[in-house]
This record gives sequence, structure tokens and C-alpha cells, in this order.
Amino acid sequence: METKKRNSFGGSIGFVLAAAGSAVGLGNIWRFPYLAAKDGGGLFLAVYIILALTFGFSLLTTEIAIGRKTKQSPLTAYGMLRKKWKFLGVLSCLVPVIIMPYYSVIGGWVVHYFKEYLVGNGEATADNNYFKGFITSDLWPIIMMATFLAIVFFIVFMGVNKGIESSSKVIMPILLLSVLGIAIFALTISHTDETGVVRTGMDGLKVYVIPSFEGMTIGKLFTVLIDALGQLFFSLSVAMGIMIAYGSYVKDDANLGKSINQIELFDTVVAFLAGAMIVPAVYTFMGKEGMENGGPSLMFVSLPKVFKAMGGVGNVIGCIFFAMVLFAAITSAVSVMEAVVSSLMDQFHLSRAAACIVEGLIALLGGIAVCLGYNKWYFECPLPTGDKGNLLDIMDYISNNCLMPVVALATCILIGWILKPSAVIDEVEKNGSAMGRKRLYIVMIKFVAPIFLFLLLLERLGIMKLA
Ligand code: PHE
Repeated sequence: METKKRNSFGGSIGFVLAAAGSAVGLGNIWRFPYLAAKDGGGLFLAVYIILALTFGFSLLTTEIAIGRKTKQSPLTAYGMLRKKWKFLGVLSCLVPVIIMPYYSVIGGWVVHYFKEYLVGNGEATADNNYFKGFITSDLWPIIMMATFLAIVFFIVFMGVNKGIESSSKVIMPILLLSVLGIAIFALTISHTDETGVVRTGMDGLKVYVIPSFEGMTIGKLFTVLIDALGQLFFSLSVAMGIMIAYGSYVKDDANLGKSINQIELFDTVVAFLAGAMIVPAVYTFMGKEGMENGGPSLMFVSLPKVFKAMGGVGNVIGCIFFAMVLFAAITSAVSVMEAVVSSLMDQFHLSRAAACIVEGLIALLGGIAVCLGYNKWYFECPLPTGDKGNLLDIMDYISNNCLMPVVALATCILIGWILKPSAVIDEVEKNGSAMGRKRLYIVMIKFVAPIFLFLLLLERLGIMKLA
């Protein structure tokens, strides 16, 4: 029962940029380039693009269509489709609840690094112990996390149009231009190391885009497939309720198919450009070994060393880089928070302000706990993947490795086998335009995607080990 008219995006550009803002996040910057360097350069890129056009397209279409069809938040949408499937709404809403606190902590780290480069103190961050020293300190990570959260809170509090849509329209074009600018710059650099070997950005670009089959075995090829699958899945922000929430704000006469293609294109182009900026820069100054790590150590340890090695211009490039990362993190965190806020609003009929305060407090308290997890509350817990993790790693493991593949798999079963794919296809075609890749979609959602997701789940749970 709706008492108030639901918010909606003003136009399709606003929707596309907001959804792309969600999709383009830390994963595009700290994981995509690392995987590409590890998994045979152009080989990984090719596998990723094929998967994006098939598997990624199907999952993204499904969630956005569920959102628009039900006009409900993730928490309430599944139950509206089928009463017995309400549990899936609960699970998919749980994911952003868990992610928000630790994403804010990482967002806080980005705020801090941006600030350091802004005041010209970038070189200090290149010190070997700098990052560890910072994240394990008492108060500062908490203050930075709260700063990041406050920015996100403000945008979500302002609402779908004035907050999310307006900010994405400003942030996303700037983000695209920055990543393009740094990528072009990265191609112009060169460096001679102590042994007299000269490496250039163009050499690095070759490592990134030329397919390498060196030492390739069937097992390794399978690893490339699973890596690309996992990355794509995370990068499109599916299985965490976000695309359902955003889809619920799309008007009925909008062309969904076209918007979905644009969102995927935006996400993939930024991921590609992030690689074209990071792989050549790291390769030039550190050689291939520089790309051995992805994630936080690439962003907060290796890259500051690269910026330092660039000399005076490095601080400027570092500043633009961390501003761009901050933009990417803000728009992603906004979408995570909106998934929870919209759920609270729909389920409990709260006002936006009240829902923002509830979720803001959960994120703040959870964020403080995660920060403490690096000092006072530090512990190491063995994870099924074989790694050891602290609080942040455990939350990341539960949301990304366990819940997300389960939610996506269950969604495929609900749409593919219970409601039938026509439920989504009809929704996409509601405005009168025919849905492209319709047959492909049916095969994907019924057969291929569930199998892929099942394999991904086995790998993430540590049941299936890759080469
Ligand atoms: N899609 C984002 C990325 O690629 C990840 C993300 C978005 C994670 C929203 C959580 C929430 O980095």
C-alpha cells in the first residue's frame, strides 16, 4: 500500500550515471588492473568483455527489471514477486547492511590519502610503514571514516533527485575525464632502473592489452574465467539489492535495455582505463613484480611509491588520482546506503530522514568497530579460503563470498524457473521497444548463470581450489 508517490529519477541520463556510479568503485581501480596483469593481460580483458555482454548483462537486467516491476526496495521486492521468497529480500538487504560499515572505513582511508596529497604531503605516504601505521592508529581512521560517512549520508538524505541523481551527474563525468587524463599521462612516462634497464609506459600498456598465453594450462584458463566472473559480478553491484532499489526509481516509459547497455559500457570503460593508467605506471617504476598485489596494498602502498618516483609531478597526479578514487567510492557507498534506506522506508514506512538516521547510526557504530579491529580488537581468524582475517576481512568474506553468490543464484532460480524469464522480458519491453539478446537472456538466466554462480560459490567457500 503506497501512501506517497514513489520518487523517481528525472531522466534516463540521471539513472544511468547513478547506476554507473554504483558500479564504478574501488573494485574497478584496485582489483581489475591487478587481475588483468595476473591473468594474461588481453586474455583476461577478452574473457571479461564476453562475460559482461552475456552473464553480466543478464544479472543486471534481471535486478533492474525486478526493481521497476515491483517499485519496491530489495527487502520488499522479492516477497511481492512471490510471497514465499521474502527471505531472499532479507538476504539481499543484509548484504549492504554488512558492507556499508567497512566500505566507509576504506572510504575514510581514501579521504586521508587525498588530504595528504592535497596538502603536498604525498611523499610521506610512500614510506614502507606508513599505511600500516595509519590504519592501526587510534582515532584518526575513525575520524576519517566518519567524514566519509557524513558526505554519503548528506547525499542520500537529500533524496533520489536532489542527492543521488544530481551528485552523480557532476561526479561521473569528472571521474571519467580524470581516469582518462591519468591513463594518457601514464603512457608518456619512462624510467631507467638501477641496472640500467629502461621501461616505458607504452611497454606497460603492451603487458596490459596483449594476450599472453605463457604457461597457460586448462587449469589456469579456468582460473581466468572464475577471476573474471567474480570481478564482473562484484563490479556491476548486483546481488546486493542496489540495482533493485535504483530500478524501482526508473519511470515506466524509460528504455531499460538501452540504459542497461550504457551502464555496462561505462563500468567496463572505467575499469579498462583504470588498468591503462595503473598497469603502465606501476610497470614503468617497479616492473612486473609491482603488480603482484591487488586491493589495498596496490592502492595505498605500491601506488604512493610510484607517485613518489615520478618526482614533483607525482604529488599532483596522486592528488587527482585519490580525488578520483574518492568520487568512485562515494557514489558506490551512496548506492549501498540507498539500498538499505529504501528498504527501511518501504518495510517500516519510515520517512527518508528517519531511515537515513537509523542506517547512518548502524554504519557509524559498525565502522568504529571495524576501525578498532585494526588495533584494540585485533584478532586473526582463519577463513575457508586459507587466508587469515580480522573483522573487516570477515565481514567482506560473509557478504562477498557467501551471501552475494547465494542471492544471485537464488534470483536466477526464481526468475528462470519459477516466474519464468518472460517476467523480466515483459518488463524490459513495457515501453514498446524490443529487448535485445532475448534468447541469450533466457539461456543465461536459466542455465549458464546459475552454473557459473554455483562454481563461483564453490571457489569462494574454499571447496574448489583453483590452479
Ligand atoms: N561495484 C563496486 C566496485 O566495483 C563495488 C561496490 C559497490 C561494492 C557498491 C559495494 C557496494 O568497486
